[in-house]
Amino acid sequence: MDIFEPTIIAFVCNWCTYTAADLAGTSRLSYPKNIRLIRVMCTGMVDPQYVIKAFLEGADGVLISGCHPGDCHYINGNYKARRRVKLLKEILPQFGIDSRRLRLTWIGASDGIQFAGIMGNLVAQTRELGPALPDLQMVI
Ligand code: FES
Repeated sequence: MDIFEPTIIAFVCNWCTYTAADLAGTSRLSYPKNIRLIRVMCTGMVDPQYVIKAFLEGADGVLISGCHPGDCHYINGNYKARRRVKLLKEILPQFGIDSRRLRLTWIGASDGIQFAGIMGNLVAQTRELGPALPDLQMVI
């Protein structure tokens, strides 16, 4: 039997998590290929529609990751993201999507090792959940 390989869309802040991903790469740390990074200037610009669209177009998991609280380059974007994720977790079950498939993390620019570890855990947890919407094929 084939092992299910989830597709995960990760909206990552340019200033922190994207830099941590870059650091992980230059440090030759490996992390699963299942993650598709989408660089955004701040987690505060991740519209809830982006998350819902990602799931409806075939993502099995969505990650939003940015600067630690207090470190946002746009003052409070990550606090906005946190509030939106809380609301999205209430809405997603109405689309038949388990709210555990949406994750929010804070990964600083120097946290390359943490980035690789979190990506590994994320893929393992999403793999256990199985396909989000099995009748859909990934189009992203
Ligand atoms: S600038 Fe990184 S979360 Fe706002």
